[in-house]
Amino acid sequence: MTQAGAGAQAQWIVCIDFGTAFSKAAAVREGAWGAFDPRMVRPLTVGGVSPGGNPFLLESAVFVTDTHVLFGSEAVRAAGVAAASKRQALRSFKTMLSAADFDRALAAFAPLSIDPHRMFSQRDLIVLYLAYLSGAIARAIAADPELAGAEIRRRYALPAWKGGQSMHGRITALFSKAEAVAARLGDALFDPAGIPLAAAAEALKQAGEPAPLEFGMVFEATAAAAYSLVGLKAPASHLMVVDMGAGTTDFAALGEGRDEIVDARVTLMQAGDMIDRILLDLLLQKAPNLKTQAEQLALWRSLMASIREVKESLFIDGRAAVTHQGKTKTIAARDLYKDRDFKAFLREMKRAFENSLNAVAARAVKDKRKEVCIVAVGGGAYAPFVQEMVRSAKAPKVRVASYPATPDWAHSAAFGGNLAPIFPQLAIAIGGALAPDRLCAA
Ligand SMILES: Nc1ncnc2c1ncn2[C@@H]1O[C@H](COP(=O)(O)OP(=O)(O)OP(=O)(O)O)[C@@H](O)[C@H]1O
Ligand SMILES: [Mg+2]
Repeated sequence: MTQAGAGAQAQWIVCIDFGTAFSKAAAVREGAWGAFDPRMVRPLTVGGVSPGGNPFLLESAVFVTDTHVLFGSEAVRAAGVAAASKRQALRSFKTMLSAADFDRALAAFAPLSIDPHRMFSQRDLIVLYLAYLSGAIARAIAADPELAGAEIRRRYALPAWKGGQSMHGRITALFSKAEAVAARLGDALFDPAGIPLAAAAEALKQAGEPAPLEFGMVFEATAAAAYSLVGLKAPASHLMVVDMGAGTTDFAALGEGRDEIVDARVTLMQAGDMIDRILLDLLLQKAPNLKTQAEQLALWRSLMASIREVKESLFIDGRAAVTHQGKTKTIAARDLYKDRDFKAFLREMKRAFENSLNAVAARAVKDKRKEVCIVAVGGGAYAPFVQEMVRSAKAPKVRVASYPATPDWAHSAAFGGNLAPIFPQLAIAIGGALAPDRLCAA
């Protein structure tokens, strides 16, 4: 991949969406914002082709075995197998980037259950993961005849956390180091057996602290708004985005002239992971016959490895079953809906949603417009309660309409049917690469 020099006209923009649950990346041809064509969009296959996995989604997970470091779905699979031991994968580590004591959290060693060798700091493991992601992006680019050899500018998407912009230097430093580590490890990154521990440690050491590479930054919700506005005959003048992922639920909006309505920006540090924790507790309560702490822990770890799938089937079928040591427990959606913590989460989310929507509506009224449009993205867009919240939304003095999470153009033959089913999760990467520079925060 060649880096566009200052002032040079890059041909493609790649946006990395480093998600709490899944990382994604997409390339979009420069100029697509003004003259959109679906062929200008290339979701990148960072997920590899692992059984059951989606090629466009790379699990944000790292697992340290006795001898190797594993990434993505391999890490999740190995952690599931090791559930009965005291080992677990490092997951949801993106939320560390929002910690007030970011530097301290990163400098700390990972817990013994994650790295029993005491070889890696949490920062090391995140850098190794980002090196894998960067290598996977480079591979996907090299395999695409239009992208290979093209000049490419890079961006990443970030939630609108407090002080989000001040994080830019630190996150760029992580990505820059990751690129240097990826360059040192080369194809060894993709060895199905993982990277030998000593090779990983050596690459981290040799990479040092390289000079920061050039990365742009776009807020996640702005990115989602950008994709929602292209390819439409009559795009909404005021557009609100609800992005429920695994780590955060973000609300944001663009107004006329596509400036961001800053008053509408709200981030909740509660999303899919929070629902997973509630479900985990509910399932543990259904297993009263476990006597020892070790048995409880083994069950907890095994549930941890499958809880996302449990939640997803709960939302689709209204119930889900889990099997542990030959015993099956079922859980129904109504168990979740009557849970006190879940109700509190829903209340909090509705309050944030209404505050954000009222800010958008107030701006629309000021701009003498009569309609506000909402779109839901992220994995949470599939959840019935998010769809219902969007469908039944009302605001003073304006009509509230909604866009489908998957736009018509995602069904284009250019994507061979692969993009539409997971579009809500790829929306940020695609929109982030589509957004014009003036909508980017850096
Ligand atoms: N069909 C589904 N029903 C309910 N939840 C789902 C479904 N599919 C995915 N999810 C959930 O969506 C979340 C992942 O969505 P997404 O990829 O948008 O998150 P992320 O970008 O990794 O997180 P964040 O944006 O918070 O950093 C997970 O919690 C996952 O379990
Ligand atoms: Mg996300």
